[in-house]
This record gives sequence, C-alpha cells and structure tokens, in this order.
Amino acid sequence: MQPGGSPLDSMSWLFSFEGLDGVGKSTQVDLTRDWLEGQGYRVRVIREPGGTDLGEKIRDLLLYQSQHRDARAEFLLFAAARAELVRTVVVPFLAVEGAVVLADRYVDSSEAYQGAGLGVDLGLIHTVNRSVCQSVWPQGTLWLDGVRRTDGSAHDVIEARPRDFFDRVRLGYQTLADREPKRVVRINGDQDPEQVFAEVVRSLRAWLHC
Ligand code: TYD
Repeated sequence: MQPGGSPLDSMSWLFSFEGLDGVGKSTQVDLTRDWLEGQGYRVRVIREPGGTDLGEKIRDLLLYQSQHRDARAEFLLFAAARAELVRTVVVPFLAVEGAVVLADRYVDSSEAYQGAGLGVDLGLIHTVNRSVCQSVWPQGTLWLDGVRRTDGSAHDVIEARPRDFFDRVRLGYQTLADREPKRVVRINGDQDPEQVFAEVVRSLRAWLHC
C-alpha cells in the first residue's frame, strides 16, 4: 500500500490532523466530524495515543509517569499504542463502505516529534509505522501550523519540553509537507477557527471528490 492509497476498501478513508500541542486540532476534528456526518459518512474519531485500554495506559505512562527515557523507547511505546488502536478499532471500522476515520494525530506525529524532535532514525520510524498500521495510511493529512491556543502552561511531560524541541517538530512537519504535498496540506492554524475550517473543508472536498 502506497501513501495516499486507500487502506482496505476504495470507499473508506482515514484523514489525520497534525500540528503542535494546543493549536486547535480537536476543535477542527469536531467540526469535521459534524460536517462529514452531514454529508452522509459514518465517522469515527480517534485520538493518539489512546483509544484502547492498552493505549490509555501507555498514554498515561508517556505523558504523565516517566520523565527521562530513551528516544527510541518513547517512539516504540507510541507505536505500540498505535498498533493496538489500528487492529482493534480502525481496521474493523474501515471495513464498511462510506466509513471515515478522523485521527487526532497519527503516523506523522512519530516523524515530527520522535524523528525531527528527538533524532530517532527515520528508517526505523517508517518500518515500524508501516508494520503497525497494516497499510492503513492517511489519504489526507491536515497540518495546522500555528501557535498554541491554550494558556501556555505545560500539562504533560512532552508539552514541558524546551522551545527548540518544538521548533524542530515544526520543521519536521514542514519536511513532510514538502515531501508529500498532495497528502500533507499545511493550513495556517493562527487564523480564526472558522477560516481554518473553511480550508479543511476545501481539502476534504478535493480528497473525497465531493
Ligand atoms: P495530547 O494531550 O493528546 O495533546 P495534543 O492535543 O497536542 O494532541 O498529547 C499527545 C502528545 O503526544 C503530544 O505532545 C504529541 C505527542 N505524540 C508524540 O510525541 N508522538 C506520537 O506518535 C503521538 C501520537 C503523540
């Protein structure tokens, strides 16, 4: 399965939302779910890491319990949560025609955060992600490029990282968008949510041909 191809059935889709912490992804995911349901699609929202019993435990470990760890160990724990989510939630849901999974973060977070941010080998990231995703790759990715909308205080271990980490993460997303411009669309996340959403819908219409 090539990037941009359909995962299981030509009539099901997975779209992901990416960007720095607090840029407003969740708001856009909610607006997108409502819009797609209004268009007649069956929609399932997933959030990474999490969404399964194992994934929620890994989320707790990664975001709240352990501070100091090897970067590859961190990547592999995110990947473990993803493997569980893909097999138990995403694949069964996408088996039905007209299904759309909206992912609040997915494979590209690995490349941006653990690859660009922490220096984990991109070859390792691709190999592991390809394997755990069972060919379920996003047909479209909305990268919300902007600053945090929250109060600026850190709520978890990753948010507490220094500024230069997030500068590298942002460059990681830029590299992805440059490399795969058809799949990864940059949207100015600093606009009003309505303006951001208008751009989200424009991309979705192009991907869905509607
Ligand atoms: P979360 O509370 O879900 O925040 P956000 O609204 O920013 O998505 O935190 C998830 C954190 O995990 C976020 O800092 C990004 C990070 N992350 C990675 O570093 N690698 C990954 O593969 C994923 C899925 C998330």
